[in-house]
Amino acid sequence: MIPQSFIQDLLARIDIVEVIERHVQLKKQGANFVACCPFHSEKTPSFSVSPVKQFYHCFGCGAHGSAVGFLMEYSGLSYVDAIHELAHRLGLTVPEESRARRHSADVQPLTEVMARAARFYREQLKASPRAIDYLKGRGLTGEIAARFGLGYAPDGWQALAQAFPDYATAGQLHQCGLVIDGDTGRRWDRFRDRIMFPILDGRGNVIGFGGRIIDQGEPKYLNSPETPLFDKGRTLYGLPQARAAVRNLGRVIVVEGYMDVVALAQYGVTNAVATLGTATTPIHAQALLRAAPRVVFCFDGDNAGRKAAWRALESSLEHLGDDRVAAFLFLPEGHDPDSYVREAGAESFQRLAARAAPLAEFLLRELRAGRDLATAEGRASLVHDAKPLLARLHAPLLRLQLVRALAEISRISPAELEAACGLKPLVVPTRRPSGLAPGAPRRRPAPLSRTLLKIILQKPEWAARIPPEALLADGPEAEALRAIADAVDHGELPAGQLGMLLEHFRETAHHALLDEVVGELVAERADESALETVFGDALERVRGAELRQAIDALTRKERSDGLSAEERRRLAELLAKKHNSANS
Ligand code: UTP
Ligand code: MN
Repeated sequence: MIPQSFIQDLLARIDIVEVIERHVQLKKQGANFVACCPFHSEKTPSFSVSPVKQFYHCFGCGAHGSAVGFLMEYSGLSYVDAIHELAHRLGLTVPEESRARRHSADVQPLTEVMARAARFYREQLKASPRAIDYLKGRGLTGEIAARFGLGYAPDGWQALAQAFPDYATAGQLHQCGLVIDGDTGRRWDRFRDRIMFPILDGRGNVIGFGGRIIDQGEPKYLNSPETPLFDKGRTLYGLPQARAAVRNLGRVIVVEGYMDVVALAQYGVTNAVATLGTATTPIHAQALLRAAPRVVFCFDGDNAGRKAAWRALESSLEHLGDDRVAAFLFLPEGHDPDSYVREAGAESFQRLAARAAPLAEFLLRELRAGRDLATAEGRASLVHDAKPLLARLHAPLLRLQLVRALAEISRISPAELEAACGLKPLVVPTRRPSGLAPGAPRRRPAPLSRTLLKIILQKPEWAARIPPEALLADGPEAEALRAIADAVDHGELPAGQLGMLLEHFRETAHHALLDEVVGELVAERADESALETVFGDALERVRGAELRQAIDALTRKERSDGLSAEERRRLAELLAKKHNSANS
């Protein structure tokens, strides 16, 4: 954990406008800055940045957050990486506190080692006509090779020694997976006589390599082992290079191979990324669905391709939202994206991608396949297999659609299907695309503490005015209110800075709720001038509720044990009060 005090200091010094301006062209408008939203495609600006609140939000898609949140969403950084990035810009060093922090301090020199190795391989490519010919033979230009930082690992046992004078002893070369240490104390290069594909993280650091053999040989591709820098299950090859196109097009194409990404880019399909010879993990799916509203998984048309697609489907379920689409594209037998785009052209490939089967279609098709739905057993086993899939799907509207479709196929009612699968009702979030009518699905009236929470998020300094009974109520909203009031009490939250408030609670149990409520605020375009009135009304309701409870308690006691004179007087007083407030 990074110390809270450091994060607060950091946020107090950073200006969200400067952070966002590096990536998005902002226009001043009144007290705020506006732009076309970088998180969804639009023609008129609904993205707004408030320097006062140190907070951004989009009326169109509901995206919102602090400077840290922006970097996380925009550049796909983790929380810790976003903090480091901001600190780096200010020339601050993030204090070490825990194992995680020490880990990232250790990692810094490894990053430098990888960068140096990548530079070496790039230079070696220039010096190797054989390697250049190979790439040319695969239709690649120098420009694309440069864009992906392609290199060549020379054919020698210790070629890297040219780049690392301490080759024989440096532990970091081993930690980076660049060399192999034999039993006899001898050390040699892992990658020899291979075309090198550097793998980058979200910040553009080289964290691993894929090395392809030139022409024939085994293994065809050799990858870096998992290292402190490199975790295959979270990494997508080509994402940094694809990010701008992905954002502009609103779609990302996921393929299986290094060469597929590079060849697609060569033909102008620049929004493709690859999993690194591993199945699509939920972490991959999450990053992909964050990067674009439409994710097209592209697989070979064979059996292995269908299996891999099913894994991708399973990994995507829990990260799908109703405003996101995962789709599945199967290439004609015998083709991979590289060979297909080469033969049929980019336009034809894009057409296939546009026609890819959406997740629900693919899921239903696969569930039906190989079952005899004319029998009760066939239909029962379909429901049986659908159950774990539906349980992982959190997009309420898509789940509803699937439930209906599956219910029809299995000849039961949607309600029976939901019961059979043990599905709990899902709340339709208020965060909605601008196209949806404002009157569309609303949740039931917010509990009082939610209303209070909404107000306090905008005016934390008013927390002191909330009566204790409202703070002590049950439920997550009241707990969050308590936490905010507490932080205000301790002087930890500066007035008005919504961005800072969200960050203060980021790694706490309250964060998800606060983020959701802020999303509602954005959707409702909360009118700040009316806040005082709404707050006053809410406090009235708190007092009213308290009054009713006290009256109820005394009335119950009157019936069971009877009241003392004092209690009777008190009840009369309360009833008069209630009567007065009802008339006022
Ligand atoms: P493919 O065998 O489909 O290779 O492996 P490819 O992408 O078509 O490569 P070219 O066109 O022959 O150059 C797809 C991906 O699986 C991983 C790599 O990530 C590769 O890009 N792979 C494959 C390995 O890691 N090791 C291997 O030996 C083979
Ligand atoms: Mn290929």
